Amino acid sequence: MVEETKLLYEGKAKKVYETNDPNLLIIYFKDDATAFNGKKHEIIDEKGALNKAITTKVFQWLEECGIKTHFVEENSGREIVVKRLKMIPVEVVVRNIAAGSIAKRLGLKQGEKLPRPILEYYYKSDELDDPWINEDHITAFGWADEETLKKIREIAFKVNECLREKFDKAGIILVDFKLEFGFDNEGNLVLGDEFTPDGSRLWDKETGEVLDKDRFRRDLGDLIEGYEKILMKISRV
Ligand code: TMP
Ligand code: ASP
Repeated sequence: MVEETKLLYEGKAKKVYETNDPNLLIIYFKDDATAFNGKKHEIIDEKGALNKAITTKVFQWLEECGIKTHFVEENSGREIVVKRLKMIPVEVVVRNIAAGSIAKRLGLKQGEKLPRPILEYYYKSDELDDPWINEDHITAFGWADEETLKKIREIAFKVNECLREKFDKAGIILVDFKLEFGFDNEGNLVLGDEFTPDGSRLWDKETGEVLDKDRFRRDLGDLIEGYEKILMKISRV
C-alpha cells in the first residue's frame, strides 16, 4: 500500500505528499476555492472530494484515448496516487470558445467559437500572476526545448479532441482548459497535475449554464451544484 510520508508542496487547492515509494506521490484535493490569484478565497465543503472524482474520471478517459498521464490510482476519499514527475513550470491552455482572459485581451465575445482550437502558454508564477508567454520565452529561459514543445502541442491538441468528444457525450461543452506536463524518471514526457472544473470551463450543452469555477469567480451560483452536475453527467459516459 502507498503511504504518505512527508508534505512536499501545498498549493491553493491541493497538497502533494511524498510516499513510501520514491516514484509515487499522493495528491490531496482541498476544499479551498480561490480566484484572482488568491485574492478571493473560500472553503467550500465537498469541493475536494468532487475534484478528486472528476479528475479520476477524466484521467481514465485520457487513458482510453491513449494519452500518457501520471495517474496511477484512486486513494482514500479525496486523494489520488500519481507518478512522480519533474514538472515544466508552464501552464498550457487550450481554448475552443472565447471566454475569460482571451475574450478580454482580444476583444472577443464570451461564447464566440474560435476559428480553430488555440493553444497558449503561461509562466507558472504566483508572484507574477501567471503571465502570458510564448515559445521563445520557454526555450530561451530553458524551461523546455523545442522538441518538447512540439510534443506538448501535439499531446495538448490530442487531449482536446479526446475530451471534447467525451464531454460532448456527457452533454457538456469543453470551452477551455489548462494542462501541466512533466518528465517521469525514464525521461518520458507525461501529462501531470489535474483536470478539474477549477482549471477548465465546462458549460451545459442544452442550457449553456456555466458549471465550472467561473460560478465562484463571477458569482454565478453555487459552486458545488455545478461540480455535482459535471460529475453526474460524466459518470454516465
Ligand atoms: P483564462 O481565461 O483565465 O486565461 O483561463 C483559461 C483556462 O485555463 C480556464 O479554464 C482556467 C485555466 N487556467 C488555470 O486553471 N490556471 C491558470 O493559471 C490559467 C492562466 C488558466
Ligand atoms: N486559481 C487561480 C487563483 O487562485 C486562478 C483562477 O482560477 O482564477 O487565482
